[in-house]
Amino acid sequence: MWESIALRLSEPDRLKDFLTLSIFNSLLLSDRILDLARSLLGSNIVYYGETNCSLDSPPYGAWHCDARGTPHDIGAVYDSNLHEIYPGWRFAVYFRDYRTSSGGLKVAPGSHCRPWRELRSEDRKFKKYIVGNQSVKAPTPLFPIYNIPSAPGDLVIFNLRTFHSAGYLLLKENHHAQMLPDFELHMLKRYPELFEPYPMGERNALFFDYGAPSEALDLYIKWRALYTLYDPKQHSALWERVIRESALGVYSYDQPTIQELAARRGITLRFDRIIAQLLYKKNSTGFLSQRDKDRLEYLLKENREFSPYHSLAWEGY
Ligand SMILES: [Fe+2]
Repeated sequence: MWESIALRLSEPDRLKDFLTLSIFNSLLLSDRILDLARSLLGSNIVYYGETNCSLDSPPYGAWHCDARGTPHDIGAVYDSNLHEIYPGWRFAVYFRDYRTSSGGLKVAPGSHCRPWRELRSEDRKFKKYIVGNQSVKAPTPLFPIYNIPSAPGDLVIFNLRTFHSAGYLLLKENHHAQMLPDFELHMLKRYPELFEPYPMGERNALFFDYGAPSEALDLYIKWRALYTLYDPKQHSALWERVIRESALGVYSYDQPTIQELAARRGITLRFDRIIAQLLYKKNSTGFLSQRDKDRLEYLLKENREFSPYHSLAWEGY
């Protein structure tokens, strides 16, 4: 059901978050999902508009973690202390079969509670593998890597501090080969016949985040909002048009009905993305309607920040 809803989404609607769209509420706000979120995060859970209905094919393959933000540098990789569990999780529902094809999620299990310096992809030793009738010397990381063989409709949950690649390349002869993405790509260029193909059709996967009130999550939320505000790559002509033409904009989960719904489900809403959207509109057009000004003032007053750093309420943003 969610798969066909996702495929029918118009291009402008793909820019919106799931609470604004409301069509995925039976997934996002289901008891099963919220129980899982609370088991990972505690009783207070936070929604901040980080959702995605992704059709990208092939998916973003680079080796990275999503957690960002320190009090000194909003864009820096968040460096966990040993055994610290980062308070933000991504929920992903995949609609293609990644048990037998390339394109599923590759993760480093346990990386979410290991310091960044232990997880750099350049730290590796070389191991010899026999692939087909060839001997290949492959750079092998000093930490475990796992290709998640998700079936259509599977839910995969991963911590935002987990190192991952959004789309692995599966070796036909060994689906569990512990290869880093850059080496997979290198091999694909030279020996494409060794790899399983991507599934037919578009990628079509749903992603949404929940977090726990904390300084670390606060910094991540602000990084995502500021990134949306300032990174020119984010500003497709479509994004600009939707912002300019729509009375409500891309993110409008501040509507009273949505706020009531979230409150009934015990979810705290963070409005940084909507604030960033209004600030972007103001900066790019030099004008805000009285309605937008009132909305901005209301959101700045209501937004519940969990740290004093990098606030969008600061002058200058
Ligand atoms: Fe990512």
